[in-house]
Amino acid sequence: MMYRLSLISMIALVTWSCNTSNQSSEETDEQEEMTEIDRQWWKEGTLYQIYPQSFKDSDGDGYGDFRGIIEELDYLESLGITAVWMNPFFESPMVDNGYDVADYRAINPRYGTMEDFEEMMTGMQQRGIRFVLDVVVNHSSDQHEWFQAAKKSRDSEYREYYHWWPAEKGEPPYRYSLFDPEGGWDYVEETDSYYLHTFAEAQPDLNWENPKLRQEVYDIMKFWAEKGVDGFRMDAFQFASKDITYPEFPEGYESDFIKYHGLRPQLHEYLKEMYLEVLEPYNVYAVAEGSGSTFQDAHDLVDADRKELQVAYHFDYVSMSRTPDRYTLAEFKEVFSKWDSAFAEAGWMAIFLSNHDNSRMVNRFGDPRPEFRTVSTQMLNTFLLSMRGTPYTYYGDELGMTNIDMPNIDEYVDIEALGKYQTAKAKGADLDAFMKELNYNSRENGRTPMQWDASENAGFTSGKPWKRINPNYVEINVAEQNDNPNSVLNHFRKMTALRNDNLVLVYGDYELLWPDHDQIYGFTRTLNDERVLVLLNFSVEVATAELSNTMSITGTLINNYSKEFNAEGGKLSLEPYQAVIVTIQ
Ligand code: NOJ
Repeated sequence: MMYRLSLISMIALVTWSCNTSNQSSEETDEQEEMTEIDRQWWKEGTLYQIYPQSFKDSDGDGYGDFRGIIEELDYLESLGITAVWMNPFFESPMVDNGYDVADYRAINPRYGTMEDFEEMMTGMQQRGIRFVLDVVVNHSSDQHEWFQAAKKSRDSEYREYYHWWPAEKGEPPYRYSLFDPEGGWDYVEETDSYYLHTFAEAQPDLNWENPKLRQEVYDIMKFWAEKGVDGFRMDAFQFASKDITYPEFPEGYESDFIKYHGLRPQLHEYLKEMYLEVLEPYNVYAVAEGSGSTFQDAHDLVDADRKELQVAYHFDYVSMSRTPDRYTLAEFKEVFSKWDSAFAEAGWMAIFLSNHDNSRMVNRFGDPRPEFRTVSTQMLNTFLLSMRGTPYTYYGDELGMTNIDMPNIDEYVDIEALGKYQTAKAKGADLDAFMKELNYNSRENGRTPMQWDASENAGFTSGKPWKRINPNYVEINVAEQNDNPNSVLNHFRKMTALRNDNLVLVYGDYELLWPDHDQIYGFTRTLNDERVLVLLNFSVEVATAELSNTMSITGTLINNYSKEFNAEGGKLSLEPYQAVIVTIQ
């Protein structure tokens, strides 16, 4: 691969080629027609998300830890990823597995020490892998010293770090809570008042309207930026700013609660403040979890000239796949195409197909049956790594890890699953149907330990794993896939290499072909005179289509079937879940 760059401040003029043959200087000179692109590592990055509790245990306590990750640094490098985002590992009572932080500057001993953290992060950076920290500052843990002091006295210096409703004013106006079936306010006897929590009772919301609180947050971010982290993922960030007169919301508002709880105009002022205080001086980037409820909301968060955040991600396709029967290829294409077109000129989005809040990608969008698991996961990874937007791969998806079967509520430990179960029970819902759906979409499916090899406990721990390991680890594991050139793992490595080497896959314009085809998702990516065509069969049947006669295929970049791909006379045929990327003219 060859490309030649000249950087003018942040703007790069790019000449490049994804042609694998050597280019002569005349050929290079011919490519002086160049597109202006704003090159950034966080756009070009291929991110890998590590759920630290489930990645690798080094000390036999059954929980993943930093030293376990250190043992696998070479594995991370072998994946061709360029950044890691790690879920929270701070001091925490673990009510929500670390998204309830009791001390933002201290490491939860379960994961190791600060020295271990530094060794792990430096080890990544030495291998060209940047580190993205999860910043959980919409709320803290109720065990945080701020909350402990604030709940005891209305005069505490930390009182205004949280949201309070004094009981002498009567009951507070109803607020929805994502995790607490009883709603978003909870009573505290010591000060005869209610505090607000968007998530669990043990996760009181921080009061961003208070400048002192905001300064505390910036100081925490500076602390980690000085340690050398390269970026931040802002958890639940759209909910941070609130109307502190706490008005009544219309009945039934929770079906559109982001509109009421999230993205108030003040939030943008706070983000600009954060940008100037932290992001700009430390040269770090930030990605927002969520993107409001409209494209405009998302643009207001991430457009470069606004100087707020750099990247956001949306959840449209996540909600589309929450039940087995709701997802159609037409909807899937529509969602991705409309988000792409909304960000074609300005702004930048990340894309993902699974994370720690969802069940496994192959169960929701692919085909987990043993005979199709490999090809359908490869197809999904091809999609993720060839779209515009920064791809986030969740640990285990590079192997095709699948959902674990958990039909019984007694096995669940996650606060979200338990809260939903209580609500369903209280409403007298059909609990068998509820459990069927939970078994399919629960986020516990995505948190089972990493499957390293076929030995006892999948090579994850020598002790008792904190969570049951998926019994299919004997077939789906790193050791087994490492030496197989056609494995999901080695296909993933080829895809990251392809994306890392071909800027057309990062910056190229996206154009959807065959919008109504119910099996094939086909699209082109174009940058200057480079064009590639991505062809994905999302179905278990052979799929055919006809190429427009304005396109001719000049080479194959990747194909998840060993059979040669050809499209004689413009007629193409794709095997079940086949994924091919070709160069075109
Ligand atoms: C979003 C996180 O991704 C999720 O895991 C967590 O439970 C909530 N925010 C609350 O922090």
